[in-house]
Amino acid sequence: MKIVLATNNPHKIQEAQEILQNLGIEILTLKDLGIEIKIEEDQNTFEGNARKKAHTIFELTQLPTIADDSGLMVEALNGEPGVNSSCYAGEEHNYEKNNQKLLKELKDKPKPHRAKFVCVINYKSKIEDEIFVGEVTGEIIDEPRGTNGFGYDPLFKPDGYDATYAELPSDIKNRISHRYKALLKFHDYLSNKLKLTCPH
Ligand code: IMP
Repeated sequence: MKIVLATNNPHKIQEAQEILQNLGIEILTLKDLGIEIKIEEDQNTFEGNARKKAHTIFELTQLPTIADDSGLMVEALNGEPGVNSSCYAGEEHNYEKNNQKLLKELKDKPKPHRAKFVCVINYKSKIEDEIFVGEVTGEIIDEPRGTNGFGYDPLFKPDGYDATYAELPSDIKNRISHRYKALLKFHDYLSNKLKLTCPH
């Protein structure tokens, strides 16, 4: 089965490909379809942004589409950076500046710095419009560790591991991550549907 993935983020494409390949689903990227588009993520929830991206690309392609919106929510910062995870450091944001800003905001806050990664996926097809949520809880550590992954990975230590997301090999991160959990729910939803429509 082929599904369009409505993102231009190469890290997300790679992770989704790695995860869904194992589950027997082939991803078509916007690049594969020759679509160049920047969709403004201006909604104030992960779900709102995921829906906006999936619906926009579905309208363009008429192909079953998934889009994710994801981010980090830190307890002591009342859920920030949340939907602003990608541009936390302001106009000149990049992964390193976002991480520095996060450490600065947490400097005087009592430890442990509890946090969770959230991924919300919207699956939009002609007749379906479904939401799947994956979450991973953990802690924000004091300095970046590790070079794998992207974004806040070097600062996030998932519960049950001594390593940060960025210290874990990608095949392990992709078997425990918030994105994996949301994609797995999506996969299970599709499998159940196929079973119902095709009893053989
Ligand atoms: P968006 O879903 O494209 O809005 O991006 C969300 C932002 O959240 C990214 O730019 C990263 O900063 C952060 N983020 C989302 N998922 C991850 C992850 O798996 N690791 C590290 N950072 C992430």
